[in-house]
Amino acid sequence: MTRRHALHGYIAGIGLASGGVLAYCCYQLVEQARLHSVEILTTTLLFLVITWACNQRSAYLSDSTLVNLGSIGVIATILVLPMENALLLIGLAKVASEVALMVRGQRRSWRAPVVNAGGAVLAALAGLIAFHMVPGNNYLWGQDYRPLLALPALFALGATYHLAETAVVSAAITLTSKERIVSIFVSVIRDMILPEVSLIVVGIVFAVMWRFRPVLSAFIVVPMFVSLRSFESEARLRKETIEAVLKMAESIDYRDTGTYEHSQRLAEMTKELAAALGLTPEHTAEIVLASRVHDLGKIGISNDILLKPGALTPEERHIMQDHPSIGANILSSYSAFQGSIDIVRHHHERWDGRGYPNGLRGEEIPIGSRIITVVDSFDSMTADRPYRRGMTVDDAVSRLKDGMGTQFDPRVSATFIQLLIEQGTYVPVENSGPDLRIVTWDAG
Ligand SMILES: [Fe+2]
Ligand SMILES: [Fe+2]
Repeated sequence: MTRRHALHGYIAGIGLASGGVLAYCCYQLVEQARLHSVEILTTTLLFLVITWACNQRSAYLSDSTLVNLGSIGVIATILVLPMENALLLIGLAKVASEVALMVRGQRRSWRAPVVNAGGAVLAALAGLIAFHMVPGNNYLWGQDYRPLLALPALFALGATYHLAETAVVSAAITLTSKERIVSIFVSVIRDMILPEVSLIVVGIVFAVMWRFRPVLSAFIVVPMFVSLRSFESEARLRKETIEAVLKMAESIDYRDTGTYEHSQRLAEMTKELAAALGLTPEHTAEIVLASRVHDLGKIGISNDILLKPGALTPEERHIMQDHPSIGANILSSYSAFQGSIDIVRHHHERWDGRGYPNGLRGEEIPIGSRIITVVDSFDSMTADRPYRRGMTVDDAVSRLKDGMGTQFDPRVSATFIQLLIEQGTYVPVENSGPDLRIVTWDAG
């Protein structure tokens, strides 16, 4: 079965399962129509609006991480309304916001809406089941109100909902990229856990206040606004930190190569290569960021060694070989660069294990480092330096071919050469034309 068939099968499965849940909810609602008071109907409509509004509001936590406030509405709905009303409402609100995104042109295919809306319904169902299975859920409302005893059930609800929703989405991402589900799952959880926990807590507090006196829940709007602002200021601080570190890396590049463009060219090539290798956009972004700062550790290398035109002595080489570790150590102080540390530390490892600093071999070397090794070598070979002219693309490609399986990951270097051919930067010998010396990545 091809990946495409698996993806379609998966989406159909999510659609059918969530559709089945919603159909059951509709059936139950019709069956029990006479039991529904005007109050429950009004609350349902009101919560539909609240959940829809939460789904509409998102906050940027970083350049690429967008947090949707939908979880607040979902958790509050689950806690306030009867099960059938809650699930139906969550499905409707999610479908409505996905349709709004389609109308605005932000969704181009029907796949994401099915996975997102279906995933939300199934995750809410899983959360509801977990909530009712864990003892203590009955202490939240009514005469025997002891909210502390209800905490385990509330925790089960929040954790199950979040993990289930992440699992549904991660599986879909796995089927559209070549990354393993576990690594996607872990990276999504790592990025979203803190904001999601805050949103879930806000949802719980909203529901508790609503149960006591609906008007009180308006007060939750203030802390929600404050937490949203804190997310946004954290994102701004993170952005400013990234910019400062990138500027520092650029100035070191300038000292080393005489140009500010090396890392920028590298970042563009890295992005294309990572995408051609089927990595997810999130993983690609992490590698691209690492490529911008890969030689940051050269800050600790003196000009005598860094700019020495001739061959380095063994002692000088030893000092030079510290730069990946120095770079990794500097980056470890910045939370925004946590994903870059290992990629930078290992960007001079070799596929055959004869590189530095740790002599890792083959797939022990992070994929980001293997990508940067190929792209960095190619750019260093072809770029002009103040003291020498760059090599021709043909010569650089033949060096890459020679190094396949020794210096370079064969799959990564073959994909890179293929990319050069597709972009017209490199023409294989059989139909070689004029000298295609590369000047910039856009030269093709
Ligand atoms: Fe380096
Ligand atoms: Fe470099």
